[in-house]
Amino acid sequence: MTSKALLAATALVAISLSLPATAAEFTVGFSQIGSESGWRAAETSVSKTEAAKRKVTLKIADAQQKQENQIKAIRSFIAQGVDAIFLAPVVSSGWDAVLKEAKEAKIPVLLLDRDIDPSGKELYLTAVTSDSVHEGAVAGEWLAKTVAGKACNVVELQGTVGASVATNRKKGFDSVVAKNANLKVVRSQTGDFTRAKGKEVMESFIKAEGGGKTICAVYAHNDDMMVGAIQAMKEAGLKPGKDVLTVSIDAVPDIFKAIAAGEANATVELTPNMAGPALDAIIAYMKKGTVPPKWIQTESKLYTAADDPQKVYDSKKGLGY
Ligand code: AHR
Repeated sequence: MTSKALLAATALVAISLSLPATAAEFTVGFSQIGSESGWRAAETSVSKTEAAKRKVTLKIADAQQKQENQIKAIRSFIAQGVDAIFLAPVVSSGWDAVLKEAKEAKIPVLLLDRDIDPSGKELYLTAVTSDSVHEGAVAGEWLAKTVAGKACNVVELQGTVGASVATNRKKGFDSVVAKNANLKVVRSQTGDFTRAKGKEVMESFIKAEGGGKTICAVYAHNDDMMVGAIQAMKEAGLKPGKDVLTVSIDAVPDIFKAIAAGEANATVELTPNMAGPALDAIIAYMKKGTVPPKWIQTESKLYTAADDPQKVYDSKKGLGY
């Protein structure tokens, strides 16, 4: 054995010896954002199922949408000496100090569904996320194809300000708008990923756009805001899905119900199963020393009325959304 190989083998043995003997003794602390959307509720529920499948103890701390609560939860997980920490970061900045503390305590951190700023790249093991720029582009391309060159004024409901997914979904959609002179984003505001805020902001868009007559399409960074916007359009006497096109992200059951009813047009799927790949990665890392890729990318699939929305609704409705 060469001295390099010997060193590698010794390091692997050292890691293995410091590990719990069975997965049941393995504890992960998950700092979850909250329950702002149906997608988030499903992610929490699926995480519990995936942890139970692997006999991992999962401690979930609900941050009620506040970064300060997430930071407190991470510090508490460090004090408890968990084996790993999962973090769904509500915003992308402001993590360096607390993640350095986790690193000093030798507790690996894995990001779930949202990213942090590049300054924190060395502070986490891997990120399990979709390509959220691509999601925005898929939504934009669907719209460009559907209107086929016709002038189209779009109103945009953005996600939480400062969240990587909000920044990226906007960027991806804007990149398609930049290539299609017929598409124009006339209003864009945050709806904070919630149904209530989506409805409220859509009401103000409708008022500002002559009762909605000048709106050709709504792009929402998640389905929950779109469900709120659909309600606002119906109350204003508009016909969403017909007079006003809709495209959003997540693929939650309620949007399939709306697509089946002809009140919504398209959604880009975000899997709620971020924990499964993250658990597999951390188990392989802890047990065999396998370093995961820095980014474990999940799929983004477009759904429209052509995809049997009622069937998709039926298959998803029991998943904790
Ligand atoms: O980070 C994922 C996003 O967070 C989902 O698209 C949205 O519904 C949730 O609140």
